[in-house]
Amino acid sequence: MTYHSPIQTVAVIGAGVMGAGIAAHFANAGCGVILLDMASEGADPARLAREAVTRQVKTAGFMHPALAAQVRVGTIADDLPLVAEADWIVEAIVELPDAKRSLYARLAPLMKAGAVLSSNTSTIPLATLVEGLPEAVASHFLITHFFNPPRFMRLLEVVAGPGTDPAAVARVTAFADHVLGKSVVACKDTPGFLANRIGCMWMAAAHRFATELGLSAEEADGVIGRPFGIPGTGIFALTDLIGIDLMPKVWQSFADTLPATDPFHAVNRPSPVITALIERGATGRKAKAGFYRKGEAGMEAFDFTTLAYRPQAKPTLESLSVKSPRALMEHPDRGGRYGWAVMSRTLAYAALLVPEISDAIAPVDEAMRLGYNWRFGPFELMDQLGPRWLAEALAEDGQDVPPLLARAAERGGFYQDRTALSPSGAMVPLLRPEGEVLVADLRRAAPRIDGNDAASLWDMGDGIACLEFHRKMNAMAPESMAAIAAATKRVAEGFRGLVIGNDAANFCAGADLGLFLAAIERGDMAFIDDFVRQGQDTYDALLRAPFPVVGAVAGLALGGGCEILLHCDHIQAHAESAIGLVERNVGLIPAWGGCRRLLVRAASNAALAKGPVPLVMAAFEPIITASVSGSALLARDLGYLRPGDGITMNRDRLLEDAKAKAITLADEGYQPPEPVELRLPGASGKHTLMNRVEAMVPLGQLQGHDLAIAEVLAGVLTGGTTDVTRPLPEAAISTLEREGFLELAASKASTQRIVHMLKTGKPLRN
Ligand code: NAI
Repeated sequence: MTYHSPIQTVAVIGAGVMGAGIAAHFANAGCGVILLDMASEGADPARLAREAVTRQVKTAGFMHPALAAQVRVGTIADDLPLVAEADWIVEAIVELPDAKRSLYARLAPLMKAGAVLSSNTSTIPLATLVEGLPEAVASHFLITHFFNPPRFMRLLEVVAGPGTDPAAVARVTAFADHVLGKSVVACKDTPGFLANRIGCMWMAAAHRFATELGLSAEEADGVIGRPFGIPGTGIFALTDLIGIDLMPKVWQSFADTLPATDPFHAVNRPSPVITALIERGATGRKAKAGFYRKGEAGMEAFDFTTLAYRPQAKPTLESLSVKSPRALMEHPDRGGRYGWAVMSRTLAYAALLVPEISDAIAPVDEAMRLGYNWRFGPFELMDQLGPRWLAEALAEDGQDVPPLLARAAERGGFYQDRTALSPSGAMVPLLRPEGEVLVADLRRAAPRIDGNDAASLWDMGDGIACLEFHRKMNAMAPESMAAIAAATKRVAEGFRGLVIGNDAANFCAGADLGLFLAAIERGDMAFIDDFVRQGQDTYDALLRAPFPVVGAVAGLALGGGCEILLHCDHIQAHAESAIGLVERNVGLIPAWGGCRRLLVRAASNAALAKGPVPLVMAAFEPIITASVSGSALLARDLGYLRPGDGITMNRDRLLEDAKAKAITLADEGYQPPEPVELRLPGASGKHTLMNRVEAMVPLGQLQGHDLAIAEVLAGVLTGGTTDVTRPLPEAAISTLEREGFLELAASKASTQRIVHMLKTGKPLRN
């Protein structure tokens, strides 16, 4: 079902860290935005808001710099009446109840009927904020708690009060989901809502026990990080990121507002280390020094005993070498005892808080996954540890066992077969919002239709199949090609269309370089030639297949991953898609049709097809600069997305949007594209491209081996020994691609680039 947005214009008041980021994200979503802040002295009273927009351009708060033009800036003093245009007003000013309430009193008479007013507050109860507001405004008042940075953090906590109109909540929730791409979690009006309530307990425990049990910052981050599926920033690097000065304030606010019985009080202790850091101005990343800093000889860590910096050291705790979080928590060394002390309290706290903060466990898990980037939420983690084991270990340790955990221990888990334990003890089904489909759902619904170790073919229903890659980083190997070829045949026999997509963070990182390197090292150029041909034939068969193919891309689509998209009839891209032909970085050129498809696309684009040189230049520039789009919108500028390709803001809606497009294309009587002939400029065009290359060298865009790659690439794109008078079939360009690729693959400098990329994940500029 298509979603029609009732929200077109949004006003954001407060252009600080959050307000500016929120305003930019509304612009990303296509809204007209009004951004107001306090007036500045001097010639430009709207300086605060204006500079905030410029900062968002610099820090990539906008998905495309041109979106900054969608934000109108002004001052609260002069421009407040502009809010009359807004369907939604977000307040993100200083965290003071009086300042917020006096702003609302000024907004109330200006707001248009039915408009929503929401606060981004982290700590002030909704009940306090609506005091004194006229009923018409109070009934449209919400807390919408965005996470920093608003563009990238998917969690949006929404709090409604007893007097909030359910229709207003529904409007904001649907808009945030479809248009802002957020995962909306409904919260109760309790301190810190979901994520920060648990997150602050977790951080308070981690700070306290690190010093009590004698762990260094590196050791603590090693333990309370990857072993639990928590980002490697662990606790102390995370505190640096948040701002060390903020922590005592946040903890104090919890200490002031939580009931005396809350377990937080027993954990929360003033941290002398934090006091020492704040005193010396080392407040974290923003001050370029905190628990960690860049020293002259390398990274340094703040020592908790000497209260001075020393070189950062890799932790050597034995407990860090164990294989599971439970084994870590059971380990007798300092690391094990620390893991137990912090995580047992955090997990028990989460179990204790349901139903106080949420009626269900799944939103709590979602909040920690999306708000703190944990791989698993606390209830999912408890299921991994074993609720019975955890309950027994808590009791043995003299800690309380929360009733919900005791219940899960009896039942054998919090989750079973898409149902979740509710506080009443019943197992309730987990339902996804309509229009959200993941491959995981398809996998549960029916066995795969076809597949191998690299990819699987699933039935999405309505005559559409879904091809999912599932190698590491979805890197392409010969077996990936075999799976695509088999799927092409299978779909032609029994389906109307194909979606290529998956649930993973990345669509496809390109060809498996390890396979190329192994072949180069054993001098097996025949393998490389075969693999290139196999890719060309497979992708081309997909393009010419009698059914529509929709590429559902999210995350990285590099090299061979980008090339498969270039062979799709339609691309449905998640807004955060990083697409690019980056073969140059490993000393190669695209040879699975990347060069050919960019040329064909340019030829069908009236603006670029004005002459053979602009046409080849349109393909040459993105490839030789190895440009990767910072968003789906930027992928349009690079030519990887066409104007008609779709963009989906909510990652969980991507596959369903792609499927809908495949159905539309099939309904419209899909016909595959015929091979075309191109008129390419030959040697004279190559000369022009190489002049362009010369101009790029002094700018530092190209260097060293790049020039040899440019020479080969220019030869391929201009059609080799052809000229404009001779139409060149697509197949001839495939041959040129392959020859160019093999020539480069045989060069030592290219091998060095591949080795370096495999070792470091970074390009070598030799
Ligand atoms: P900030 O300090 O960066 O920005 C606050 C803005 O409010 C400033 O631009 C300031 O000029 C303006 N302001 C100050 N006093 C004002 C007044 N009396 N009237 C009107 N405007 C005034 O603060 P930040 O971090 O952007 O926080 C804004 C809100 O978002 C707060 O309610 C905070 O609790 C909440 N929040 C902050 C998060 C964060 O990570 N910083 C995360 C989630 C929520």
